[in-house]
Amino acid sequence: MLDKKDDVLILAIESSCDETAAAVVRNGREILSNVIYSQIALHTVYGGVVPEIASRKHIEKINQVIRQALTESGKKLQDMSAVAVTYGPGLVGALLVGVSAAKAISFASGIPLIGVHHIEGHISANYIENKSLEPPFICLVVSGGHSHLVVVKDYGEYEIIGRTRDDAAGEAFDKVARAIGLGYPGGPKIDNISTKGNPDAIRFPRAKVVGAEYDFSFSGLKSAVLNYLNSCEMKGEKVNQADVAASFQKAVIDVLVEHSIHGVKEFGFDKFAIAGGVASNSSLRKAFEKECRENGIHFYHPSPLLCTDNAAMIGTAGYYEYRKGIRHGLDLNAVPNLKLGESV
Ligand code: KG4
Ligand code: ZN
Repeated sequence: MLDKKDDVLILAIESSCDETAAAVVRNGREILSNVIYSQIALHTVYGGVVPEIASRKHIEKINQVIRQALTESGKKLQDMSAVAVTYGPGLVGALLVGVSAAKAISFASGIPLIGVHHIEGHISANYIENKSLEPPFICLVVSGGHSHLVVVKDYGEYEIIGRTRDDAAGEAFDKVARAIGLGYPGGPKIDNISTKGNPDAIRFPRAKVVGAEYDFSFSGLKSAVLNYLNSCEMKGEKVNQADVAASFQKAVIDVLVEHSIHGVKEFGFDKFAIAGGVASNSSLRKAFEKECRENGIHFYHPSPLLCTDNAAMIGTAGYYEYRKGIRHGLDLNAVPNLKLGESV
């Protein structure tokens, strides 16, 4: 398709954790290319992401990934309206690689620079395949580092109504997977083995936070799984991995669904979206589909590839920032603990 004169093309870069990614996105909702180099295999032997190794691999891969994204899009650097990059939250060394690459591109080519919040990127992934989705709506963001229930008031305008008090949902998946011997990355492995287990085999706790009805807490659930494993060992009983995985997964999903649907109803929305790596979980998607159908709520979710870290989502979020006139200077820095709705 030929570009129209006022088309906005964003070159997007993401390197906040263990994926080196670049994409070209047209007008916020159309992916022209989406290149993801996953480092997962590299970190698996250590049972989790090793920040120093992640940074070094990003440095090795970033130029290659950006070049490939441009080539696959059929566009040139000069065709880009802006370069958007994740500048937080995430691992500082990993973020710095993407931020430095974007700043170098902006400096050398004169293309405007836009720093993007990683979670804003995850939420924005919903706009890519759901062309008619517009704010306001409620979004549950569940990733390796965050579990937030967010009111998306407008593009780039957020209010967090619920958050985790301890572990993020993805973190709980990863820790429990390690405890039952499934290894890293835990989420997809638990998702997979759970299809062979009984979700009602073990009754794990569903935590509520007193006085904060939309908040989450997963560390008690993680301890309950560890206690269960210990007691099996002491009694000499064999652990059924699939049953433990399925029962744990159900406990997480029950809480996520209950709090989210309650929030959507209480705040009077009819649109609900999910985002982040855990949003690719097949049982979670089924559970939300059912609940939303039964409650007359429109349910939105990105396809699994756009739930986990990618640069297309950063291109979409960057597009809406671009339209608002947001531009960053070459003093843009990585901000590892950047809060949603806060800009630096
Ligand atoms: O969004 P993401 O790719 O990176 C962060 O921003 O954290 O999320 C990664 C997290 C990991 O904890 C991973 O175990 C989890 O998402 N995850 C899943 C699934 N796929 C990835 N959790 C449950 N089920 C899955 N299918
Ligand atoms: Zn992420």
